[in-house]
Parts: sequence; structure tokens; C-alpha cells
Amino acid sequence: MQKNSLNKKAKSQKNKSWSGRFSEPVAELVKKYTASVDFDKHLAEFDIQGSLAHARMLGVQGIISKKDVSAIEKGLKEILAEIQAGKFEWLLDLEDVHLNIEKRLTDKIGNAGKRLHTGRSRNDQVATDVRLWLRATTDGVLTGIHKLQTSILDLAELHVDTIMPGLTHLQVAQPVTFGHHLMAYFEMLKRDAERFADCRKRVNKLPLGAVALAGTSYPINREMVAKTLGFDGVCENSLDAVSDRDFAIEFTAASAVLMTHLSRFSEELILWSSPRFAFIEIADRFCTGSSIMPQKKNPDVPELVRGKTGRVNGHLVALLTLMKGQPLAYNKDNQEDKEPLFDTADTVLITLEIYADMLRGIAVNKANMRQAALEGFATATDLADYLVKKDMPFRDAHEVVAVVVKHAIKKGCDLSALSLAELQKFSELIQQDVYKVLTLEGSVASRNHIGGTAPTQVKKAIQRARKFIN
Ligand code: ARG
Repeated sequence: MQKNSLNKKAKSQKNKSWSGRFSEPVAELVKKYTASVDFDKHLAEFDIQGSLAHARMLGVQGIISKKDVSAIEKGLKEILAEIQAGKFEWLLDLEDVHLNIEKRLTDKIGNAGKRLHTGRSRNDQVATDVRLWLRATTDGVLTGIHKLQTSILDLAELHVDTIMPGLTHLQVAQPVTFGHHLMAYFEMLKRDAERFADCRKRVNKLPLGAVALAGTSYPINREMVAKTLGFDGVCENSLDAVSDRDFAIEFTAASAVLMTHLSRFSEELILWSSPRFAFIEIADRFCTGSSIMPQKKNPDVPELVRGKTGRVNGHLVALLTLMKGQPLAYNKDNQEDKEPLFDTADTVLITLEIYADMLRGIAVNKANMRQAALEGFATATDLADYLVKKDMPFRDAHEVVAVVVKHAIKKGCDLSALSLAELQKFSELIQQDVYKVLTLEGSVASRNHIGGTAPTQVKKAIQRARKFIN
């Protein structure tokens, strides 16, 4: 039997950072399997930020000399510039972002570079990097949500009294205003923003000082490092600090809920823009054509938002599954947190940006919306409520209106098209004033309480919303 390549002696160099106890170099395939530099180099800027804070603390505490601190600072700043200029050479042999940067530092400044890792482990280092990155990313998501909310408010403001059919079971139920409908998504996004802001509080704690898992015997000052890095405090248990990734799970869960909201919104945009509905038109720049059917204009952007929601939901399940079997403390499994997390952030950030822009490019066909609201006896409940206000018990009113609707179906007309004499055959309580509630405008105007669809209420809701987000 042929020995597989895993067992062959690898040709490559040993990893000098930890290979002292190893009698042969790691196999090439294993190196590829275990290396994370291809994706965790994404954290470089935060890795350097963390190292600078750590080195300064070591200096202040007298753990390393001031001279070493200066050399480390100078070296790390040069490395940051190299990375930003795209001139840094990332080596798979050096496994991950941390060892790549540390090796470069040592090549530049010698022994001082080798002292940087005093009182630190990659375990608390990587947890710190991810938290710093996630904090900045969360702020980006919050800005993205804010921009999208502004787009929603701008569109809702134009349509406080545009009437459309409100649906239940995808069937015409009662008339609503388009502004009111849009404001439902504003509310969802408001809660999404709350979720991200709340998650940020738990992200913003410092793991450094936990070291490999048990803390350190050096006289470190964790509060000082926390302050330098803008953390609200330190992780209070070293085992927990290096091992849990619940903050990443929370961020991804908040992302999955946000994407789910946008997926529902997308489903509506797709329906509304289909020729069957023809309520809206999405600007051409957000659509594509078909290579075979010349007449088509496909709503690709909302369809992809709906599709990408599946991807983010998948990342959430990946992270939960990643965590569930891990004993304390750090395990290499945790290296697998990054790709789902990075991809979640990329997906959410670009989706928010494109969505805000897409809403600005929506044209509304008010006549079609209004016509559709006329097609399902949307004011039947209003007629029942009218009778109740004239003292008929609600159950009886419901019954009377059902018979009126049956009559209108037979005639093929809306309730508001029935004459007073015709209506009075069903109940003599009905008077001329009934037309105030049978019209679409009368129906929406009557829902005049907080949370209702009346144009005056929608206007107020938009005002409150603007105040809230600004
Ligand atoms: N690349 C590793 C990660 O992302 C860094 C920590 C490695 N720690 C270790 N003990 N091997 O988790």
C-alpha cells in the first residue's frame, strides 16, 4: 500500500515559533489544513492595535524595557504601513496573522520583537482581535441600518395617504396606506439596531491577560490595556475569555434576524413589481434582463437578498455547532469562527447599502394600488363596525355584511357601488353616512389611533421615527 503524503516527511521549514519539541516538520497538507492566514489576515490592523496596547502596558509595568517598547512601536507601525500598501508578504508557513506579524517584527527589530509575546498567548490575542474587529463592524452595521431607515422614511413620507390593499393570507383584507406598510419595516429595523447595539456591549470586553487559559504570573495591568483599546472592561474569567465565542454567535443571530426582515421585504418588492401586481417599478439599475426572453426585467437584487438570507442563517448554525461540543478552554475549532463571521458581516453590510439605494429608486403606481384595494371588499369590516356603532351586536353585524358581500359578488361590484336603497334592504340602520366608511379613504382615515393606518397617524409615526434616529 502506498503511504499517503501526510506521512511523508515534509520538505518545508519548521515553524520556529513553536517547533522546538517536534522531531519532524509538519506535513505540507497539514500545514494547509491548519493555516488560517488566508482569511485571518483580515484582522491584521486589529492585531497590531492589540499588540501596541499590550507592549505599552508591559513597558509601564516594567516587564519589558522602554527601549524595547519604542522599537516594537516603530516596527509595528512600519508593518501596518506595509500591509496597507499591499507590500506585506503573508506566508502560509507562518500559519496565521499573529505569527506572520510577529516574525516580521522580529526580523526588523531583533530581540525586542521576541519580547512582545511576554504575558500573552495567541489564544487571548485572537479573541481580542476578533472583538476589536467585530466592534468596528457592528458600528458599520448600525450606520447601514440608519441609512436604510432614512430611505424608508423618505419613501413613506411620499405615501402617507397612498392606498393599497392590506393582505392577510395573501388575500385582500382591509385597505392600508403604503406609508403605513413601509413603516412596519422601519419598526423591524429599529429592533434590529437595538439587537446589534446590545450585542456590542458584550463584544466590548477585553480578553487579553487571560493568556493561554489561566492568566499569567507577570504583574500585568489588564484595565490599562482595556482603556487603551476602548473596551468597557475586562473579561472576568480567563478560561471563558479565551474559549467562548457567544458574542460572534449573537452578532450572527442579529444578522440572521435582520436578513430575515429584508428577505420578507424583498418578497414583497418582487410580488409588487411583477406585472400581475404592477404596484411598483424597481429602477433598471437594480434589475437584469433575460438572455432569452426580451420582455423580461428581473428583480435580481431583492431575489438575491432573499437568497443570501439562507447563507447568513447557515453561518449562524455553523457557529452554534462549532461551539456546542467544545470543552473549556481554547480549542483550535475556534479558528473556524472567522470565515462565517466575516462572510456574515460582508453580506449584511453590502445588503444594507444596496437596499437603501434601491428604495430610493422605486416608482409607485398609485392607481394600480388603489384599484387592487377595491377588488376584495376591503371595507366589509368597516360596514360591520358601522352597524355596531348603531347598536347592532358585532356577531349580527358580521352576518348582515356577509350577506351584503354575497350580493355584491353576484352583482360584480364593490360595496361602495351599492345604492342606499339596496343597502337598506339588508338593514334599516344603514343611512347616507355609510359611504364615509365604505370608501377606501374613509376606511383608512377612521383607523385614527397610535399604530393605526390613518394618514394623520402615519405622518406622526414618521415624525417620531425621524426624531428617534437623529
Ligand atoms: N489561528 C488561531 C485561531 O484563529 C489562533 C490561536 C491559535 N492558538 C493555538 N493555541 N493554536 O484560533
